[in-house]
Amino acid sequence: MLTTQQLNAGIEYASDNFKNDQAPHLHVDKRIIKKLLNLDGKQVLDFGCGMGGMTLWYANTWNCEVYGLDIDANHIEVAKALKDRNKEQNVHFEQRNILESPLGSELKFDNIFMNDVVEHINLPTLAQLFQKLHSVLKPDGQIFVSYPPWKSPHASHVSHVVKIPWCQFLPDKMVKKMIAKNNVQILGDLEPDLLSAYESLNKLEHGVFKKLLNENNWTIDYRKSYSALNKLPGLSNINFRIFPLNYLITKEFLILKKK
Ligand SMILES: C[S@@+](CC[C@H](N)C(=O)[O-])C[C@H]1O[C@@H](n2cnc3c(N)ncnc32)[C@H](O)[C@@H]1O
Repeated sequence: MLTTQQLNAGIEYASDNFKNDQAPHLHVDKRIIKKLLNLDGKQVLDFGCGMGGMTLWYANTWNCEVYGLDIDANHIEVAKALKDRNKEQNVHFEQRNILESPLGSELKFDNIFMNDVVEHINLPTLAQLFQKLHSVLKPDGQIFVSYPPWKSPHASHVSHVVKIPWCQFLPDKMVKKMIAKNNVQILGDLEPDLLSAYESLNKLEHGVFKKLLNENNWTIDYRKSYSALNKLPGLSNINFRIFPLNYLITKEFLILKKK
């Protein structure tokens, strides 16, 4: 249970993700999703919805029914308060671990979103989740995934407090010491501070993820490797994946389909 101060801080953060099209971390997600997908009339699952900013954005941008699920009770507490504050009708939030209590067979989705989720889950669990997601996605449904690959400048999720991009490549002891020195509480029930969040990262890279998806019967239908170089005139559609430019990729965007 969060304090009023924590709840309000969470609502402020999630409101920005909902309403601000330039919100940090999610503005490119929003742009790509709008370009590629039309969610009108769709049943949508926002898996790992966190505090619900994107969940409300889906429901508000299109005429669709959206379920936001997250394993973290504190995040769902904020998401429900955000929903009440914005009086969104077509959104449902639930705290659930789908590996322990699977979703009912009546729930089938056209689109599943995992924005900034897959890099936070250990790989054996991630594989089990992708097996499970087969049963809740309709036969011609799609999963949209975004994540910062481990080589990216801010993949550590702590470079804003450590103030060193790519700090994940410094000796482990040194990075953890720097995080501990600048540690910040982050509202999670399961990951209550930046150090615990850093320690739970799975260091995901495209090759490893592609193999995991392939082994669990998913095929990659679309891939965009987004980098700051895409902001240069005429270069927005290029994927800069060749070394050393691959270290500038800030996010991978994938659309998955069932094999
Ligand atoms: C960085 S947050 C992203 C939140 C949200 N998708 C967004 O873009 O704002 C990652 C979320 O994944 C959730 N998560 C991690 N493991 C999960 C699991 N096994 N099932 C559901 N959610 C999970 C975490 O609790 C956290 O809220």
